Amino acid sequence: MRNEALAGLRDSFAVSPERLRTLTGAFQAEMRRGLAGEPSSLKMLPTYVDRPTGRERGSFLALDMGGTNVRILRAELPGDRTAPRLISAQFSLSREQISTDASVLFGSIARFIGRFLRDHARPGPQKLGFTFSFAIRQTSIARGELIGWTKGWTVEGVVGRDVVELLRRSLEAEGAGEVQVVSLNNDTTGTLMAGAYRDPDCDAGCILGTGTNICYRERTAEIRKPIGPYDREFMVVNMESGNFNVALPRNLYDEALDSRSENPGFQAEEKMVSGKYLGELVRLVVADFCSRGVLFGGRVPDVFLQPGGFGSERLSEIEADDGPEADRVRARLKDWGVEAEAEDARILREASRIVSSRAARLAAAVLSATVTKNDPALAVDHVLAMDGSLFEKYPGFRARMEDTFRELHGAGAGRLRLALVPDGSSFGAAVIAAVSSI
Ligand code: BGC
Repeated sequence: MRNEALAGLRDSFAVSPERLRTLTGAFQAEMRRGLAGEPSSLKMLPTYVDRPTGRERGSFLALDMGGTNVRILRAELPGDRTAPRLISAQFSLSREQISTDASVLFGSIARFIGRFLRDHARPGPQKLGFTFSFAIRQTSIARGELIGWTKGWTVEGVVGRDVVELLRRSLEAEGAGEVQVVSLNNDTTGTLMAGAYRDPDCDAGCILGTGTNICYRERTAEIRKPIGPYDREFMVVNMESGNFNVALPRNLYDEALDSRSENPGFQAEEKMVSGKYLGELVRLVVADFCSRGVLFGGRVPDVFLQPGGFGSERLSEIEADDGPEADRVRARLKDWGVEAEAEDARILREASRIVSSRAARLAAAVLSATVTKNDPALAVDHVLAMDGSLFEKYPGFRARMEDTFRELHGAGAGRLRLALVPDGSSFGAAVIAAVSSI
């Protein structure tokens, strides 16, 4: 019965090579529709910035906000692509600060910046680049309205408002008026810019963390929908790829997760791929297996009872053990209050592998679709700047993505280079501030 249950699970999470190809085509069709301003699950948002030259120089501040950790840094760019000097600090937002209202959120952020400036004093006006890791409708490099929250954020009074203006006001109230917010960007754009600062072949940025998204470099003339003033030949486009929803192999667990989420009907791909949701998918599988008597003697252990209570970092720990007896999985289960037999631990680990492998395959497929839209034969090298805990820390995630590239492109996969750019989203904001100050 257990083998049958696992075989059924494998089937419902399978993504065949044909499905990957169909999905790639559907993704590119959505990209084109979004660029033309036609209805599409991909927003294809203009960012008003192109790759840096590496010659940018000077001192810039960056604010990186989009998870419960807020990062602030100062970067001294030397102007010759060599490593910048960085000073950074990290602050945490409480659950309350990400679920109340705009003044609480931006007031806290301004206080963090005030503290950073006091600890790392420097006289005179300071230019700041702002990474805001949500979908923003930008009308220029330093202006953009929040389209909608994702990743469980629900702060009131921000949707539809210019987040740069909200930040400026709270900085003034904090007495930090010497900080000039000169640019606004999504975290994927920051990551692309940080990657391209180091390597001129970088033309896409991707986050695989709590949420997921991709941006890439597009010919400005291809952006057919109306955009604000911009005079460069290329522009980075923030696709908001987590919202992609065509030709995805969704199953009953995906539907259950979506219907109970804060944003049902949205972020379909993100809900199959990103760190906020993988633990929840496994939790739903465990609950189902228990109800069928396949796991834990048919009783759902407490750690799997609470919706959202089984985080993806736990899946990482489960998959870190590849021993035949799954001893470390059992030990971790014990820490979480579950006495499990070896067979239960092995089934849980297999369920976890099934869910995370699908995530890695889908993540690779949409990245491949992004790059091959403009280079179908993979004629040149593409460096894909990557950031996020799933990509960086989840055992085997990157290797499974690379396997999928080979499955899709054979030897051509050598053209696609995944480059981890740790803290790319914060350093990239400093680079964008520099590019937009020239
Ligand atoms: C947001 C994107 C962001 C991504 C990664 C998604 O939920 O909509 O704007 O880039 O998470 O942080």
